[in-house]
Amino acid sequence: MKTLLLAASLTLASLNVAAAEVAYPTGYRDWTHVKSLILEEGHPLHELVGGLHHIYANDKAMKGYRGGRFPDGAVIVFDLFETSKGGNAIAEGPRKLVAVMQRDGRKFKDTGGWGFEGFAKGDPKQRAVGAQARTACFGCHAEQAAKTDLVFSVWRE
Ligand code: HEC
Repeated sequence: MKTLLLAASLTLASLNVAAAEVAYPTGYRDWTHVKSLILEEGHPLHELVGGLHHIYANDKAMKGYRGGRFPDGAVIVFDLFETSKGGNAIAEGPRKLVAVMQRDGRKFKDTGGWGFEGFAKGDPKQRAVGAQARTACFGCHAEQAAKTDLVFSVWRE
């Protein structure tokens, strides 16, 4: 019995560790499209996220976009593609990155209540940020979007 209890608490402990990770945002293509933007060479963010991105928000994140305060459970996705230019058009190339912000005030309290992660090429198994979230993502969002709950993009009808 004691061994069983121990095994149960060990399983819970490992679940807790796994839960501190940002989840892959399954189904985000069905969420609300917030905006799109193309960042070309010469833009300060080009090296990090150059290309064409679309931003998606789940229902809880939409509360934040509309009301200014993002509740726990809010998830925002930054879906980034290479650009392909031709025939006077700029189209999507291959997917480069699925960057995610997931709100959980307790789990991610060290990074302003937001978990940050990037999935290379949109592959749920290729975590590009991991333990680097503080320096790679949080720093810039916290400094430059402090007044808007760390979110840069703005909702328009
Ligand atoms: C140097 C500043 C900077 C860094 C570093 C940065 N971002 Fe951002 N991020 C931005 C800006 C600016 C936008 C708004 C883009 C737009 O309006 O289309 C943004 C938008 C986002 C969004 C959409 C929500 C929002 O704030 O508008 C997500 C999700 C996101 N970034 C995730 C990340 C992740 C994950 C990292 C780390 C790999 C990261 N960001 C690093 C500047 C930064």
